[in-house]
Amino acid sequence: MFDTIVFFSLLFVLFVYLVFLHFRWEKKLRFYVKKIEEDKSQIIQLEKMASLGTLSAGVAHEINNPLTFLITNLSLISSYAKEITDVKDIDDRNKTIANIEESVQECCDGANRIKRIVQDLLTFSHASKGRRSCDDINKLLDATIRILWNEIKYKADVVKDYKATTHVWVDANKVSQVFLNLILNAAAAIKQVTSQEKGTISVSTTEDDKNVIVKVIDTGPGIPKKVYSRIFDPFFTTKGGTGLGLHVSRKIIMNHGGALEVEATSGKGTTFVVSLPKGKSLKQDE
Ligand SMILES: Nc1ncnc2c1ncn2[C@@H]1O[C@H](COP(=O)(O)OP(=O)(O)O)[C@@H](O)[C@H]1O
Ligand SMILES: [Mg+2]
Repeated sequence: MFDTIVFFSLLFVLFVYLVFLHFRWEKKLRFYVKKIEEDKSQIIQLEKMASLGTLSAGVAHEINNPLTFLITNLSLISSYAKEITDVKDIDDRNKTIANIEESVQECCDGANRIKRIVQDLLTFSHASKGRRSCDDINKLLDATIRILWNEIKYKADVVKDYKATTHVWVDANKVSQVFLNLILNAAAAIKQVTSQEKGTISVSTTEDDKNVIVKVIDTGPGIPKKVYSRIFDPFFTTKGGTGLGLHVSRKIIMNHGGALEVEATSGKGTTFVVSLPKGKSLKQDE
C-alpha cells in the first residue's frame, strides 16, 4: 500500500515537472519563432537596401538631368522678365511672352519628371506594410525599369512585350523588389560578357487560365552547370553581391502563391520566369 502511494506521488511529481517543462519550452519556442520572423523581414529589408545602394548614384544622375533643365529654364524666364519691361514693340513683346510660356512649359516637364522618379523610388524604399492590392504587373515593371534605367542603359537595350491584361493581387512593394533583382542580375550578367557591346534584356508578360507570367530574358553568359542548383541558396554569389536577391525573390513569389523558376544554358543567356496566380485575393500576409 505504502509503495503504491509513493509510486503515484512520484508519478504525479513527474507529471507536474513535465507540464512545467512543456510550458517553459513552448515559451522559448515562441520567442525563437518570433525572432526568426523578425530576422526574416530584416533580411528582406537589407537586401532591398543593398539594391537601392547600388542604384543611388544612378537615381541621383536621373534627377540631376531634369533639375539642370529646370534651373536653366528658370534663369531664362528671369532674363525674359527683365527684358519685357524694355521692349516697346508689340511684336517683340509677344515673342518674349511666347518664350516665357515655352520655358514655363519646359520647367513643368522637368519638375514632373523629377516627381515621377521620386514616386518610383518611394515604391521601393518604403518598408512593405504587407498590404496587397489589385495591380497592373506591366505598370510595376515599367516603374522598375525607370528606376533602373541609369544602371542598365549602357549595358543593354530593353525590349518590352506586355500581353497580360489581368491585374493580380500583390504586395506591389515586394513584387517590384523581385523585378528589380531579376533585371539587375540580367544587366550584371550582360556586363560580364562584354563591356563594349550592348546586350538585350527582354521583359514580357503573358497569361494563361491560372497565372500571369513574367519573363526576364538576358543575352548574358547563362549559368554554368556547377552553380545552377545553388543560385537560390541564401548568400550564394559569384559576383561579390549579397547572394540574397534570388533567395528573397523566390520567397516573396512563393508567399504570393506563385513560382520563380530559371531556364539557363551555359553560354546562351538566362530566362527567369515568375508566375503569379490571378483572379483572387490571396492570403493577406506572410
Ligand atoms: N541573369 C543571370 N545570368 C547569370 N547568372 C545569374 C543571373 N542571375 C543570377 N545569376 C547567378 O546567381 C547568383 C545569385 O544571384 P543573387 O541571389 O541575385 O545574388 P547576387 O546578385 O548578390 O550575386 C549570382 O551571383 C549569379 O552567379
Ligand atoms: Mg542579385
